[in-house]
Amino acid sequence: MNMPGTGDTPALRSVSRIIKGMPATDGAGVELTRIIGQPAFPMLDPFLLLDAFRSDKPEDYIAGFPPHPHRGFETVTYLLAGRMRHKDNAGHEGVIEPGGIQWMTAGKGIVHSEMPEQQDGMLEGFQLWVNLPAEHKMDAAAYQEYPAENIPVETRDGGVEVRVIAGVTSHGTTGPVVQPMTEPLYLDVQVPAGQEFIESIPASHNAFIYVIHGPVITANEAGEMVQPGRDDLGVLTQGDAVSLQAGENDAHFLLIAGKPLGEPVARAGPFVMNTRAEVQQAFEDFKLDRF
Ligand code: CO
Repeated sequence: MNMPGTGDTPALRSVSRIIKGMPATDGAGVELTRIIGQPAFPMLDPFLLLDAFRSDKPEDYIAGFPPHPHRGFETVTYLLAGRMRHKDNAGHEGVIEPGGIQWMTAGKGIVHSEMPEQQDGMLEGFQLWVNLPAEHKMDAAAYQEYPAENIPVETRDGGVEVRVIAGVTSHGTTGPVVQPMTEPLYLDVQVPAGQEFIESIPASHNAFIYVIHGPVITANEAGEMVQPGRDDLGVLTQGDAVSLQAGENDAHFLLIAGKPLGEPVARAGPFVMNTRAEVQQAFEDFKLDRF
């Protein structure tokens, strides 16, 4: 039944901006590409940072990220290739492997290291920072960690494959990561050449795609076709669904969405709070070994 005014027709999101990453060095000298969190694109609420790393040259990654603190948000590490060892000051330790996700809620604070568990070969993956609302920034730290085999893979018509890390798809698959504060959707999508991927996204959410292999063919706000390519981030407009197509090449991309918090953001280095005083306090607490 089709009743007028009940929103039966989904409003398709289009691409409002295509963002190119900026080369950056972080940790003890890891070469990476900063996409969200660079001056030209400081954040997309609730997402504070997106780094991509991809190198088969050990000198680009071997120094890793020795012990450093975080407070007030979540770090999300997703690997496509290579292995990364994680260790924190509360005794939590593990290795993230290809296809595995680590969703770490830093909360009031942890000190951790993230080091490549390899001497050579390819290391490829992403780190996303997701903000926490003011009332939960000082919660205890927590982890949601899942190896590849615990992440459901949806196979759709035309050979489209969707790995569901967080959120629920329109086909009813639920990812293992749950975060009610920002209700994230985190999908790793592969679309064979010439095929289309259509997915619903909650209308309240901010959303983007990040292209791993492309291009991905979709529309901009003027209704013209745009083709964000490898390593491009496409910011999506508001709406409740998106249609993304592969052209002559197979496409591989992340589709990530989350509920914006709409709160003031005060950030410095590894701390993201609501006020400058709270950031000062974080530096003070870290210095006095209170993490
Ligand atoms: Co870290």
